[in-house]
Amino acid sequence: MPTTVGTENTPEDLITNLLHLEHDAIAAYESTIERLDDPAKRERIEAFRQDHLNHVSQLEQFATRLGIEIPTGGDMKQMLTTGKVALAGIAGEDSVIKAMKTNEDDTVQAYQQASSNPVGDADMKPVFTKALEDEQRHRAWMESAA
Ligand SMILES: [Fe+2]
Ligand SMILES: [Fe+2]
Repeated sequence: MPTTVGTENTPEDLITNLLHLEHDAIAAYESTIERLDDPAKRERIEAFRQDHLNHVSQLEQFATRLGIEIPTGGDMKQMLTTGKVALAGIAGEDSVIKAMKTNEDDTVQAYQQASSNPVGDADMKPVFTKALEDEQRHRAWMESAA
C-alpha cells in the first residue's frame, strides 16, 4: 500500500512521521549492510545510510523549532513496506536489495508528498526536495544492482 507519510495536516505531524519513517529506513539499512557480502555494495549502502542520517538531523532541527518531541528511533513504527523485521526473513543478496528497493519506493513517495504539502514552510521545502533527490538516487541504484 502506498505510504501516507507526507500528507499530514499539520507541520508537527508531518515532521514526526518523516522522522519515524527515516528511523525505520536507517534500521532497514543497518540490517541490509549486515547481510551483504560484496564490499562494494556494502560501501554504497553505507553511503546511502549517511544520507538518511543527514535527513534526520535536518528534520530534528525543524522538530526543535516546532517544539515537538523528537522521535528517537527506539520505537519501530513499521512504516516501510519491507522493514527491518521483514528483511530478516529474506535470503540472498539480490533479494535483500530488491526488498530494500520497496522501501525506497516508500521514501520517494513520502518526500514527493511532503514537497507538495501546503503545511510545509519555506525552510522545509528545499530540505524535502533534496531528500527526494537522494531517495530517487538510492532507488535507481537498487534497481540496477539487484
Ligand atoms: Fe531519508
Ligand atoms: Fe534511501
